[in-house]
Amino acid sequence: MNSCNESQRGVQGNRPVQSASGLALGSEGAAGRISKAIQAIALDRSSRVGLVNQIVEKVSGLVADGLLKPMDKMPSVRHLARQVGVSAFTIVEAYDRLVSSGHLVSRRGAGYFVAASAAAPRHESAGNKDPHPTLDDSDPYAAEVAVPAQGHIPLGCSWLPPDWHDAKWMQDCAKTALRSGTTLLQGGLQVLGDSDLRRQLARRMAQNSVAVDEDHLMLTRGAMHGTDLVLGVLTRPGDHVLVEDPTHPGLLPLLARHGCVALPVTRSRSGLDMDGLADLADRHRPKLAIVTTALHNPLGTSLSAQQAHRLLALAEQFDFMLVEDDVFRDLADEKTASLAALDGLKRVIRIESTSKILPALARVGSIAAAPALISELARLKLITGSGGTEFVERVALHALSSGEYRRHITRTRARLEHARGIALQLLPHFALEPLAVPDGGMFISAGVIDVGMTAARALQLARAHRVILSPGSRFSCAKSNRLWFRLNVAYADHSAVHQVFNTLAQASTGSS
Ligand SMILES: Cc1ncc(COP(=O)(O)O)c(C=O)c1O
Repeated sequence: MNSCNESQRGVQGNRPVQSASGLALGSEGAAGRISKAIQAIALDRSSRVGLVNQIVEKVSGLVADGLLKPMDKMPSVRHLARQVGVSAFTIVEAYDRLVSSGHLVSRRGAGYFVAASAAAPRHESAGNKDPHPTLDDSDPYAAEVAVPAQGHIPLGCSWLPPDWHDAKWMQDCAKTALRSGTTLLQGGLQVLGDSDLRRQLARRMAQNSVAVDEDHLMLTRGAMHGTDLVLGVLTRPGDHVLVEDPTHPGLLPLLARHGCVALPVTRSRSGLDMDGLADLADRHRPKLAIVTTALHNPLGTSLSAQQAHRLLALAEQFDFMLVEDDVFRDLADEKTASLAALDGLKRVIRIESTSKILPALARVGSIAAAPALISELARLKLITGSGGTEFVERVALHALSSGEYRRHITRTRARLEHARGIALQLLPHFALEPLAVPDGGMFISAGVIDVGMTAARALQLARAHRVILSPGSRFSCAKSNRLWFRLNVAYADHSAVHQVFNTLAQASTGSS
């Protein structure tokens, strides 16, 4: 809006005079420059790139290189069509696209002009500029939000490497989704989300011993969206919520946005501190507890069946709801305990997401809960914006219902197991000690023994080797002197990572 207004002001305030050829004559020099620039537009008719695209690329290149400048008047459609030997329709289409991309502006009755806001020289253009914001080490969520710049190793990230995904399979799922008339033409909105996908998810949950009707299952944009909705329905500012400490980095900022008070319960290699939890529940009467049973982030451990039973008993005793955040279930051992399965979704709300298993094209979350609660969640979803995810839901449907999904899971588990084995062998060589031995999945959290530096310094050192770390402070409310990191094992066996570990080890023994 702003740039559009600026462009128009520029053109009005400095209206160029037109030559017979249709080029601007703001000055002799400008006309010559524009004419020379335009003459350089030569099209390659043997290329597989269409003529419209070629013209768009050439003109935007001339703008980016500063050969066409803001407010320059473009040749008339007929003039350019004659010059490059194409139809007027081709030029109209190309000019329209250049207007849409912000390179040109169109003025009724006056023609096309280079936009005032299109002046960025090529080396600063979006294509070449580092699109990644600088990571702010003090922001607990930063490493998750900012995808590291190209060439950096996202050792602290929580997603699978892109080349672990089968692009062809994803393309096939997207094509199948596109072929369906339901996806393409449906105008109305299914607030709960695509019914076929909900049916598919309900079937999968039944295989995990969670009986849920597809109408008591609502789709979301991911697990965080689901948690946000649950907090919106079940809490009010000032309410207390039990959280694991450490926990995944999105949760604490989300609770803060809802004005909830987080009650941290220690989670360690021996599971959840149930006595601590009971004490907090007794003193603060929390509304909710948010727990990851399968493959906790960041420790990588699962809760024992015994602890799951105790947790349900405490929820009953102190009358709080349990949110089972279950995004890693498919990577966990089949026998891993499930609160939803034990409780039958009476006191448990099960939140899932494909975000840890499938690429963003098929990223869908879900909430399974008691019918009355699902109605309230649906109302909140409707009020706060529920559309826009239909295509992704159909892609996820085809991905989850194809036989390839099982193979993807089997392959991913095997690769993670292998990578985890290597990482666990590697860590002691660098005086790094796992906080817990993971039961599966992609994470190991490991601490530096005898720390000799701050987390900020360690992050800086790692970044010098193009490695992005996630320090323990992103996962915990507790102030600790211990320096530890969450490592994604899929990225751990890399020479730059070994160099970083080595530097940390030397610093921790005081030799650097
Ligand atoms: C336990 C847990 N819950 C939720 C999320 C966020 O999931 P989503 O990306 O689907 O919102 C993460 C991300 O890593 C996570 O580890």
